Amino acid sequence: MTASIPPIAPAHLPALLAAAPKAELHIHIEGSLEPEMAFALAARNGITLPYADSQALRRAYNFSDLQSFLDLYYQGAGVLLTEQDFYDLARAYLAQAAANNVVHAEIFFDPQTHTARGVAMQTVIRGLARAQEEARRELGITSALILCFLRHLSEREAFETLEDALPFREAFIGVGLDSSELGHPPEKFARVFARCRELGLHIVAHAGEEGPPAYIWAALDVLKAERIDHGVQAVNDTALMQRLAQERIPLTVCPLSNQKLQVFPDLSRHSLPALLDGGMCAMVNSDDPAYFGGYVNANFQAVFAATGMDARAAWQLAANSFEASFAEAGQKQRWLEQLNGSFERAHDAAR
Ligand code: ADE
Ligand code: ZN
Repeated sequence: MTASIPPIAPAHLPALLAAAPKAELHIHIEGSLEPEMAFALAARNGITLPYADSQALRRAYNFSDLQSFLDLYYQGAGVLLTEQDFYDLARAYLAQAAANNVVHAEIFFDPQTHTARGVAMQTVIRGLARAQEEARRELGITSALILCFLRHLSEREAFETLEDALPFREAFIGVGLDSSELGHPPEKFARVFARCRELGLHIVAHAGEEGPPAYIWAALDVLKAERIDHGVQAVNDTALMQRLAQERIPLTVCPLSNQKLQVFPDLSRHSLPALLDGGMCAMVNSDDPAYFGGYVNANFQAVFAATGMDARAAWQLAANSFEASFAEAGQKQRWLEQLNGSFERAHDAAR
């Protein structure tokens, strides 16, 4: 999908980026837990957080790499106990997403983070599902859930989690792989993903965030991933770039996450423009917006300001988000028409 986009002066780009309808395909619901909500839920559940207040917690968000973030992320998720907690979390994210003109979100959740603390799978899924249904009715935003296996745990534990989730098979559309990447290659989960494919689940995997291009190859060839989450290290492998472009395998890129976790020395050096130039189906996402400094529009604004991408790139990224979603073809076409309408309005306003 490409379109002829008339030039738009840089001064009008921020408004264009904010107003464009878009899909968000890489958001961990636990990563949308804002410090204020973490403290409110901790108080509700009688849990003490090791910070004086939400401002002190936010000040601790200085990360040197993925693991330094994950340590705080898992600690934060410890305040989530009841169905109402998961509902409140997802409802707040979906309200933010709608305010960012996200029309559709495919949302990751990490059940093992919760079941390990004695929270039932049903509690997690019911709370999230109630928020999804309410947001669809009240905000007009559609969403779907993707269950992620934690790759620092064993494949046996992933199998147990899958078994635990199967009574709620209709509540999620796919499975993913997240958590500490280095030292936990996709091959470790070959058999559980084979089983998920037999069950008709969509397959995605984090790969090439901090890990080498070899992890992206393995996610494609061993897990049969339909989308790669992050994938920003692909630029270091020409043959891989060709394959990703030829097969239109989407890369769910998260610029502020990469900046905060020091994947690139500076946002101006981010590989997103190179990925788009290489014909990749890349798009912009927020990953863990409460920890990385903003929701999807903040990611658009920051990466456009840092790299100088133009209106044509903006259109391509939004169109890619729809193409890469697991929605049905007719719906994708309707979103694309909405996107074109928003660009025409922005162009008229910029005249
Ligand atoms: N879990 C939450 N955010 C993640 C990320 N950026 N990479 C891997 N696992 C995650
Ligand atoms: Zn992620």
